[in-house]
Amino acid sequence: MALVNLKQLVSAAFHHGYAVGSFNVVNMETLQAILQVAEEHHSPVILSVAEAHFPFVDLEEFSPILLRAARKAKVPVALHLDHGQSLPAIVTALRNGFTSVMFDGSTLPLEENIAKTREITRMAHAVDVSVEAELGHVTGGEDDTSPGVADPSLFTDPQEAELFVAETEVDALAVAVGSVHGIYQGTPELDIERLAAIRDLTGVPLVLHGGSGLSNDDFRQAIAAGIAKINVYTDMSQAAMARIRTVDTLPQRLGFPEFMLLVREAIQEAVAEKMQIFGSVGQYN
Ligand code: 13P
Repeated sequence: MALVNLKQLVSAAFHHGYAVGSFNVVNMETLQAILQVAEEHHSPVILSVAEAHFPFVDLEEFSPILLRAARKAKVPVALHLDHGQSLPAIVTALRNGFTSVMFDGSTLPLEENIAKTREITRMAHAVDVSVEAELGHVTGGEDDTSPGVADPSLFTDPQEAELFVAETEVDALAVAVGSVHGIYQGTPELDIERLAAIRDLTGVPLVLHGGSGLSNDDFRQAIAAGIAKINVYTDMSQAAMARIRTVDTLPQRLGFPEFMLLVREAIQEAVAEKMQIFGSVGQYN
C-alpha cells in the first residue's frame, strides 16, 4: 500500500482503540516475516531498526531493501529508528529515508531531554518524518542484561509529560509505566491510572516499550488508556532461538535455506499473535 510516517499510523490507532506493533528488524528473515504477517492479516506495521542493532544491520546497505519492501507492501508501513541515542544516528536514519525516528533522551535531565528532542523534532518535521521521544525511563535491553523488573522511581510523571509534549511537539511519547525491555522477572504490573493521566494531559498517542511477556489483559488495558504503538523484540528473538534448538531433533536434515525458513516461520507466529492481541488485524482491507 504505502510507506507512511509514524504519525499517520499511530493517530489512526489512537483514535480507533487499537495499537500498531513495532517489530525490530535485525536481518532479512525478520523483515520478510514481519511484512508477510502484516499483509496476510491486513495490519499496519512499524519496521523498527534499533541503533543498538546497527552492528547487525548496515543501514547504508539495508535501507534501500527496507524502503523497497515497505513501498511494495499491501498495507501501510512506517520505517522507524528505535532508540536513537545521538544526533548522528538520527541524521543517518533521515538520510536513509526513514519515515520516523525515536530520540531516546530518557536518561538526560528533563531540560536537556526537552532541548535535544525539540531540535530533532524541528529537523525531522521539516522533512515530514515523525518523532517519538521517551520521558521517564524504561529499563533493560533486549537481552539478558534486563533487570526484569521496573523501577517506579523512573516512571513518567504526567505533569512533566504535559510540559514535554507541549515544548517538543513530538508525535508519540514513550512512557515508563511498569514495562521493561527483555525478560520479566515475576509478573509485571502496569500503572494504568498513570497511563490514562498522561494520555489526558498530553493528548498524543503513547508508546509501550518492552511488549514481550505482558498478558493479553495488560495490553487490553494499556490500549484503552492511550497506548497506540507497542514495541516487541524479545518474544520474536526467543521464538527464533527456540525453533533453532529443535533442529537436531527433526527427522530430516535441513539445508541452510530451509533452516532459515524454519526460523522465519517461528518469527511469523510470534508477530501474528501480537497483531491479534493489539487489534491491528483487519484494519486495512
Ligand atoms: P522487548 O524486547 O522487551 O519486546 O522490547 C522491545 C522494545 O521495547 C524495543 O524498543
